[in-house]
Amino acid sequence: MPIETAALVVADVPADADLLAVPYSSELNPALAVDLHVPVADLLAHYEAKGEAGEIVEVPVAREGGVGRVLFYGVGDGSPRALRRAAAAVSRRARGREGIAVVVPDGDVTVFAEAALLACYFFKIGTPGKKPVAAITFVGADEQGVRRGRIVARAVALARDLANTPASVKTPAWLADRAVEQAVEQGGGQGVTARVWDEEQLKAGGFGGLVAVGMGSANPPRLIQLSYTPAEPATRHVVLVGKGITFDSGGLSLKPTANMKTQKTDMAGGAAVIAVLGALAELGAPVRVTGLIASAENMPSGTAQRPSDVITQYGGRTVEVLNTDAEGRLVLADALAYADAELDPDVVVDIATLTGAITVALGRDVGAVYSTDDDLAKQLVDAGQSSDDKLWRMPLIEDYAAGLRSSIADLSNVEIGSTYGGGSITAALFLREFAGKRSWAHLDIAGVGRSTVDEGVLAKGATGFGVRVLLEWLTKP
Ligand code: BES
Ligand code: MN
Ligand code: ZN
Repeated sequence: MPIETAALVVADVPADADLLAVPYSSELNPALAVDLHVPVADLLAHYEAKGEAGEIVEVPVAREGGVGRVLFYGVGDGSPRALRRAAAAVSRRARGREGIAVVVPDGDVTVFAEAALLACYFFKIGTPGKKPVAAITFVGADEQGVRRGRIVARAVALARDLANTPASVKTPAWLADRAVEQAVEQGGGQGVTARVWDEEQLKAGGFGGLVAVGMGSANPPRLIQLSYTPAEPATRHVVLVGKGITFDSGGLSLKPTANMKTQKTDMAGGAAVIAVLGALAELGAPVRVTGLIASAENMPSGTAQRPSDVITQYGGRTVEVLNTDAEGRLVLADALAYADAELDPDVVVDIATLTGAITVALGRDVGAVYSTDDDLAKQLVDAGQSSDDKLWRMPLIEDYAAGLRSSIADLSNVEIGSTYGGGSITAALFLREFAGKRSWAHLDIAGVGRSTVDEGVLAKGATGFGVRVLLEWLTKP
């Protein structure tokens, strides 16, 4: 269930609005059919309102035939960050209601609408509790701004839905169907086209990483390719690669239950790629974009790969698999090598819930970006800042690459022992081997892919991290 809340735009406060939100900064519209009996400034002083973003002062007002409410909301310094907080607070206060009319603040209405809608996201299988507000009417807002906010919020919600779906439903084949569905909704041949490799085709095509990770599962792997071509000829071709592990049990290097139970979201990177490809046409992105989602289920069984197996990745490089729980890099390596060999991209960006170690380094609010290209790293960090999917650049420490040497294969998939440590860094170094000479960036979103709180624009569970930063980067010049 994505965001069910409708978003409307009107010029003036609807006469029948029984719940109205007004920013502190604006005087009440005298045409409003509400009588506060006291001036707004006195009211706010009475409640000792500070005007901080997220603060709300609720005032009952006499309405025709009963009592209505006005929510005065603070907007802090009016920055995009503050407006997001304010919008989420307003939406949340309207939970359970049919509608709310929100007089929009000065400033970036796109981020305001986006956050207001994201705060209405919920995922429930069964009887829903108190539902988010059914409709938000943005009063005095720029239509195009609200439209963009709505498209971005819907894309984030799609990524969350895919990641929140239980793995009993979400097999690699199911994920491929959802991806193809997105392509069809974008107008098929006009905007986005899709291609899916099944297990046999992966074997025949030499995708040894996907085959090895998938072979322990009753649900076989898929490689999914989505291609977006803009209406105007593009000068740049970007490839996005997403990790699509529909469930990561660890394989024979089995995870303990506490670590395993969150691993249905191990395809969050792939979900972000699907959602981004689903929104590019609507946003009129000027670049050619190819999405690759490397999807498999990592399970232990009599047919599973073993720690110590040697596999051959796409393109011929051999890897000694010393830990089957370092599976993400194996499926991503195939996709990166395929992109380099076959797609001739100008830039490759992969996104993956790759390592628990990055949560130790950066926590739950900031994702990691690694890159061989300083410009690209900066572009992504900047886009992260403005889109609110915050990224911090991490170093590719050359010396640590020695940890991935294998005595019997070209590479090992994990460091044996911990001479170097830095698990997220060594994972990034492993991926770099397969990106060729392309301008490449890797986003490790293991820390930010899930939220433990239901707060602001976040709901418990999948966050949809990556959708906003990638859309920002791909659609803003
Ligand atoms: N999917 C996990 C990473 C992860 C951990 C994502 C926690 C979200 C939350 C990944 O496949 C994994 O298991 N990584 C191992 C790597 C190790 C075996 C080198 C890890 O982080 O422990
Ligand atoms: Mn794993
Ligand atoms: Zn994983």
